[in-house]
Amino acid sequence: MAHPPHSGTTAWRCPSNLAIVKYWGKHSRQLPRNASISLTLSQAHTDTTCSYSIEPDLAGPQLDFRFEGKPMPAFSDKILRYLHSIADELPFIPHLRLEVQSQNSFPHSSGIASSASSMAAMALCLCDIAVASGYMDEADFLRRASHFARLGSGSASRSVYPHLAAWGQHSAIADSSDLYAVPYSEAAPVFHTMHDDICIVSTAEKSVSSTAGHQLMENNPYASARYQQANDRLSELLHALRTGDVPHFGQIAEDEALTLHGMMMCSRPSYMLMEANTIEMIRRIQLYRQESGVAVYFSLDAGPNIHLLYPDEVADAVSIFVQEQIRPLCVQGRIIQDQVGNGPSRLVTV
Ligand code: DP6
Repeated sequence: MAHPPHSGTTAWRCPSNLAIVKYWGKHSRQLPRNASISLTLSQAHTDTTCSYSIEPDLAGPQLDFRFEGKPMPAFSDKILRYLHSIADELPFIPHLRLEVQSQNSFPHSSGIASSASSMAAMALCLCDIAVASGYMDEADFLRRASHFARLGSGSASRSVYPHLAAWGQHSAIADSSDLYAVPYSEAAPVFHTMHDDICIVSTAEKSVSSTAGHQLMENNPYASARYQQANDRLSELLHALRTGDVPHFGQIAEDEALTLHGMMMCSRPSYMLMEANTIEMIRRIQLYRQESGVAVYFSLDAGPNIHLLYPDEVADAVSIFVQEQIRPLCVQGRIIQDQVGNGPSRLVTV
């Protein structure tokens, strides 16, 4: 090994993100079938601390992984597989002794997917280790972190930037790539304070994982039309983002959410992740919007929970609506009030 032994500690807080145009379908080594764009959140986040040493004689990597203070073999195996999978690009990995402590700001059983925030936090820590030990220079740090986050979980690639991020090659986004996400900085200010109330409909584990869902797109008869549609909708959305057109943004967000779940329903085998209360909430949101004119919209990720999207200026009105009509449909009245935020922050480096 060319580099001397090295040790230290680094920690990152990384938020989750909500895609407006969805990534659904992948190929090769974690490459997307279409471009996607997301809002970076703030309240739903993962804190990850990595204490490490790079030991020339170690036949590793050696991992001690703790989630919320306890060993968690399923996560640990996933991280270990991930470390092996990126060893070709980070040659210190076979010599790495790594102690990882990770925790989420949202309850573990909230039904919220944590792979975006947790894999992005992990990738940021690994990039810190690479820089500190001389395997990487600091240029394009976030882009490299996004690349490594993608290799852990596709949606994680978008969590490393503030406000909005796009992943996947698209003719209307300069520098866009399938290999990493890029920040999208042309959105009007209204989108930088957009709310996302995550309304918990079920805390049960999903019957079909996202990874399996992506796989099912390979034989989905509508797949190629869907990929074309996603790219077209992204062009449309960029226009709405730049011009501050909230209703158009909201319409695309809802269309995308329903298309995502439509793809699941026409996969073979078909499956459904929406619950009765998901559909009831959608009805109430659409009716309330129609009757009140308040700009409130929904999105869904690959699960039954509703993401309620609205600009800050209508927050007071929406809060009454949520209290009266949405909270009673949530598991134990549980809602995570989130908002677009400033992206990850480094907690410690020693
Ligand atoms: C519906 O990123 O969780 O949230 O790459 O297999 O880890 P893997 O999948 P994942 O898929 C997320 C899909 C989605 C849409 C999105 O975030 O774009």
